[in-house]
Parts: sequence; C-alpha cells; structure tokens
Amino acid sequence: MEGKVRLGARPLLCPLPCVLASSGEADGRRGFAAAAWTGVVNSEPPMVYVALRPSRHTFGLVRETGAFGLNVPPAALVEKVMAAGSVSGRDGDKFERLGLTAFRGEATGTALVAECLLNLECRVVREVELPTHTVFIGEVLECYADARAAEGGLPAAGELLSWGGGEFLVARALATGK
Ligand SMILES: Cc1cc2nc3c(=O)[nH]c(=O)nc-3n(C[C@H](O)[C@H](O)[C@H](O)COP(=O)(O)O)c2cc1C
Repeated sequence: MEGKVRLGARPLLCPLPCVLASSGEADGRRGFAAAAWTGVVNSEPPMVYVALRPSRHTFGLVRETGAFGLNVPPAALVEKVMAAGSVSGRDGDKFERLGLTAFRGEATGTALVAECLLNLECRVVREVELPTHTVFIGEVLECYADARAAEGGLPAAGELLSWGGGEFLVARALATGK
C-alpha cells in the first residue's frame, strides 16, 4: 500500500497503560514491577490481565499468592516507575527501596501502592503460558481511587501514566464516549 512502510512482525500496539503490577502477600513477602503489557479482557465479571516474564520476581509471587494488583501511577511518579522496572524485588523489598507505601486490598490482602491514583485488586482466574510471557488473567474484586484526584470516581486521564514507542506518555481527553 502506497504511503505505508512495513515495520515487520512486532507487538507494536501503543500507547499502553503503564502500571505497577503488584503481588499478593505471602509470609511478609510482596513485590511489584512496572508493566505495560496489561489491559481489560472481560466486562461481567470484570477481568483484566498482566503479562509477566517468568524471570520476574513479581511473577513468582503472583503465581504463589494467586492474586495481583494493577496500580496506575500518576505521571509525577515516572522516576519511581522507571526504577520499579529496572531493579528487582529479589534484592530487597521494593516498597522500602523506592519509598512507596503499601496498603492491603480488602478482598485478597494484595499489596497495593498507595501513591497510585487507581488500584485494581484481582484474583487470578486463569494463567496462559506463552513463549516469552505468562498472561495472568484476574477477576477484579475491588477498585480503589485516590480521593483527591478522583472526579466522578475516576482520576483524569491526563494524570495517568502510559507507555508507547519506548517512552512514557500521558493521555489527553478529546471527547466523551461510552
Ligand atoms: C515501562 C516498563 C514496562 C514494563 N513492562 C513489563 C511487562 O509488561 N511485563 C514484564 O514482565 N516486565 C515488564 N517490564 C520489566 C520489569 O518491570 C522489570 O524487569 C522489573 O525489574 C522486574 O522486577 P521484579 O524482578 O521485582 O519483578 C517493564 C519495564 C518498564 C520500564
């Protein structure tokens, strides 16, 4: 097609939300990692997914606890999100290392990140093992929004961090849709 260039077979969909994917808690162990391979897969019941490489410390904790959280950070947290995506929880508790505050989800006890504007607390209902990543599909049991940022229940899109083309982005509202 004229006017198009071929870029080859790559997972190029973007922008994607950029979250801190946190794990359930087991014997005081908890963790989280930056994750952009995440999204919504079902409405009733509400279901979301996060795709993690088995090499991630967070992967083992999610599998062990059967629960995860998707914590959507404000744009202002970008440095900590970058750090969460560069260091491993194997070398020490990331909440303490990055100076972030954990709170426990009421449904599963999942460790959630207080500084994030939106927190989805999920129970793993299915795992799909793919060649490089395992997709954890979770039923959303509860959502928590930052009371200061929430307008009508949801933080403004422009406050939330997303990821695309190798850089962090923020979204801009254009029109209202359902
Ligand atoms: C913006 C960004 C997005 C990322 N998305 C994912 C992802 O979707 N899945 C994944 O397995 N790793 C992803 N990573 C890499 C992990 O966050 C990184 O390897 C992290 O250090 C793992 O921490 P852990 O060992 O404590 O789990 C991403 C990193 C960044 C910076």
